[in-house]
Amino acid sequence: MKDVNIREEAGKLNAQLVEWRRHLHAHPELGFDTVETAAFVVERLGEMGVTEIRTGVAKNGVAAVIRGDLPGKVLGMRADMDALPVREETGLPFASTVDGRMHACGHDAHTAMLLGAARLLTAHRDKLKGAVKLIFQPSEETGSGAPAMIADGVLENPKVDAFIGLHTGNFWTGVDAGEIGYSNGPLMAAADMFTITVTGKGGHGATPHRTIDPIAIGCQIYTTLQTIVSREISPLAPAVLTIGTFQSGSAGNIVPPDCVMKGTLRALTAETRKELQDRIRGIVEGVASAMRGSASVEFHYGPPPTTNAPEMTAKLLRAAGAVVGPEHVREVDEPTMGGEDMAFFLEKAPGVFFFHPSTFGGGRDYPHHHPKFDLNEDVLWTGTGTMAQFALTWQDD
Ligand code: NI
Repeated sequence: MKDVNIREEAGKLNAQLVEWRRHLHAHPELGFDTVETAAFVVERLGEMGVTEIRTGVAKNGVAAVIRGDLPGKVLGMRADMDALPVREETGLPFASTVDGRMHACGHDAHTAMLLGAARLLTAHRDKLKGAVKLIFQPSEETGSGAPAMIADGVLENPKVDAFIGLHTGNFWTGVDAGEIGYSNGPLMAAADMFTITVTGKGGHGATPHRTIDPIAIGCQIYTTLQTIVSREISPLAPAVLTIGTFQSGSAGNIVPPDCVMKGTLRALTAETRKELQDRIRGIVEGVASAMRGSASVEFHYGPPPTTNAPEMTAKLLRAAGAVVGPEHVREVDEPTMGGEDMAFFLEKAPGVFFFHPSTFGGGRDYPHHHPKFDLNEDVLWTGTGTMAQFALTWQDD
């Protein structure tokens, strides 16, 4: 790789990355409906001379192959493209032009950075071993885009042997803009949703003894569920159980027939995830039955924990070090309990998901999904550079 200086080439590309990101930022699309975004991606790839492009993968996903001149394996490089149903309040000149939609998680930057990596790799096909498959994914925020693309065959023809992906922004600490963050353990959590339905027996509020009050049962279930994390899961195993909605009833003098709660659970290992699910079910059914009612829980499974393969993490450290300097490649302080559907890809082949810090500092950083969320565009090149350098070197040694 002596005659290719990706650090320098990526740096020179930053103005282009900013332009692409701003266009995408101004035109956010939700879920699987990333029509214009996909068209933008396909146009840019066409300009780079990429011809092997499959569109319409899981509705509006794009998969494009760049083949190297040297024999080797296939690396899947993934970026998510979807925005959020948030009304933007940044006041930026390139703010969302669509009311009620915003790129408030940085997926606009992910798409731009992967396009940048594609640009660098198309210029170095003679040094590229095997091929890269660029995966532009819709609907990350629902946790359903990655499995839908997998079901639609995105990992075949050519078959993907390994993965790389990144998340930009500010949700991991311990690293600053211009650096690259990694984790040797899990980086993000398994994230499942669930719905609990309690069935009682409705009646007049003045004759509670002739009813089975689902609100009373629901309150006991809510309270008892809090003891799973505090009393049952090991204090050394991170776990979250949140009930976000509790709905029942229509008037003050009526005992309603049922009550519905919705929540989410997070865990960093498959074992803790299973334990949470089993105990929620046990408590929901047991408490309801003890109080003469009945209840059931339905799980809506999200992504598993995002966990990197150690050998791929080692390759990332080498690639990122060549781009930002080894002293600027640092382990993040701790994982986040947020979920990430990249985890579905990492279940299929070994890979690495890394953190691209794009903070401003000085109080300018708003949380992801906030109407004022923004990211530091000066460092877009470090994400592009790390991805491209990884693609060119991961099969060395
Ligand atoms: Ni995100």
